[in-house]
Amino acid sequence: MNTHINAALQLPCGVTLKNRLAKSAMSENLAVENLPAEKLFRLYETWGAGELGLIVTGNIMIDGNELGEPNNVVLEDATHLDAFRTWTSGAKKHGSQIWAQINHPGRQAPAAISRETVAPSAIQLKMGSLAFRTPRELTDAEIHALVAKYARTAALCKEAGFDGVQIHGAHGYLVSQFLSPLANRRSDRWGGVIANRMRFVQEIVRAMRAQVGKNFPISVKINSADFQRGGFAEDDAVEVVKMLEREGVDLIEISGGTYESAAMTGRQEVLGFAADTKSSLPQTGAQDVLKSAAGTKSSLPQTGAKDVLGFAADTKSSLPQTGAKDVLGFAADTKSSLPQTGAQDVLKSAAGTMPSSTAAREAYFLPFAEKIRQSIKIPLMLTGGFRSAQAMNAAIASGTIDIVGLARPLAMEPHLARRLLTDTNAQATLKPVKTGIAAIDRLGVLEIGYFSLQLKRLGEGKDADPKLSPLLAIPLLGLNYSSGILSRLFRRDTQFSG
Ligand SMILES: Cc1cc2nc3c(=O)[nH]c(=O)nc-3n(C[C@H](O)[C@H](O)[C@H](O)COP(=O)(O)O)c2cc1C
Repeated sequence: MNTHINAALQLPCGVTLKNRLAKSAMSENLAVENLPAEKLFRLYETWGAGELGLIVTGNIMIDGNELGEPNNVVLEDATHLDAFRTWTSGAKKHGSQIWAQINHPGRQAPAAISRETVAPSAIQLKMGSLAFRTPRELTDAEIHALVAKYARTAALCKEAGFDGVQIHGAHGYLVSQFLSPLANRRSDRWGGVIANRMRFVQEIVRAMRAQVGKNFPISVKINSADFQRGGFAEDDAVEVVKMLEREGVDLIEISGGTYESAAMTGRQEVLGFAADTKSSLPQTGAQDVLKSAAGTKSSLPQTGAKDVLGFAADTKSSLPQTGAKDVLGFAADTKSSLPQTGAQDVLKSAAGTMPSSTAAREAYFLPFAEKIRQSIKIPLMLTGGFRSAQAMNAAIASGTIDIVGLARPLAMEPHLARRLLTDTNAQATLKPVKTGIAAIDRLGVLEIGYFSLQLKRLGEGKDADPKLSPLLAIPLLGLNYSSGILSRLFRRDTQFSG
């Protein structure tokens, strides 16, 4: 079938993707001793058989002492490349490109699994000291060392059989912290004006390119904005993408938000901030969510670790990138009705454009992508909310974006791309993730946990289970983080190794 998402795409470095559908990064939390293992192999073989043009892994950490989650994959030396080769060869057996997303959490490393965190400035996330430590400000020499580490991991990824790499520059992790004037208060060459704040990612791109050569794809995932007053804003983002184009990046993926800001879960109050021409910061909900979480702890299932749940609520409730459907006001399986919340209109007016396509009903960053498209020519991937072949084809046809990124739908239906590529009326069928307990349902952590459970099922060779109770995500999150918390409580003087 000859549709827009079926068309091949050649990247600036010369590599060709067989179609325009990409699996966006989803942290799998399935590593064993921070290495890829059986469940990850199976999960990626399954995605690899699903006709995707591109598969981006969940974030792979550049430093085993700096994790975003306990069971992240880490690639910092060549000791275990065979495990990585098994992983990549299974994923690309059917012609999909497999790219590694490379990340460092900076201050967004949960306290439970870190001994010390580092960041551009010693500014703690506004999410409670139990959840996140006050980071130590990086020295100039350490910043250079980190740039080299990102590049080293990229080189190792190439050796391990990945077809490309993606720098995680979104969602409030280290690169995104450097970009943000709220997190980065430095007065040296790494802070201040945007030209300085983007120097970190610029240097990483250069160092990576020097390591992997000109024919190896390098992508960067960036935020449209942090949706916080004084934070990384759209105009900054335009400067960053222009620089990335000059530096020879092959693909930019657009997302948005940080742990602190609930914006890109589609939370109304934060979207309202965008519409308000960024003049006033609404209470983005992190504290409200925390309060409501605290208020409902007694009604949570007995996972045995209320602190853990509090921590989880604290840290992940405002994960910006998941597009909480209840807040956005549209169910993922909605056919064609415009959401009633006005969130899309808000975003449209924030971007100053009115996309005519149906795609804007689903893809909540499309208006921003339109703005970016006017500034750069390199391929753009857009992730967040896409559910129907109709919207995907419209977004590609409009010329605004080149690749459609999909995350949660591929956790439920790993071969979804096949349907989308062969049926222009195909839709992802995602049910809203709801427990029926309002305070819990507001927590982004629930969605992350829920889809993590589905990824685990796929890794075990089972189908995803649309009937799976979202309540089951809570013990999983408790287990994940309690090991780190216990470790911290009882082994304060030793390094956490999980
Ligand atoms: C379980 C889960 C884990 C995620 N992990 C990552 C990650 O490691 N890196 C990243 O850039 N985005 C991550 N995301 C965000 C997705 O890439 C994507 O931006 C978001 O889910 C919106 O796209 P969707 O509407 O297609 O799900 C994650 C999302 C989920 C649900």
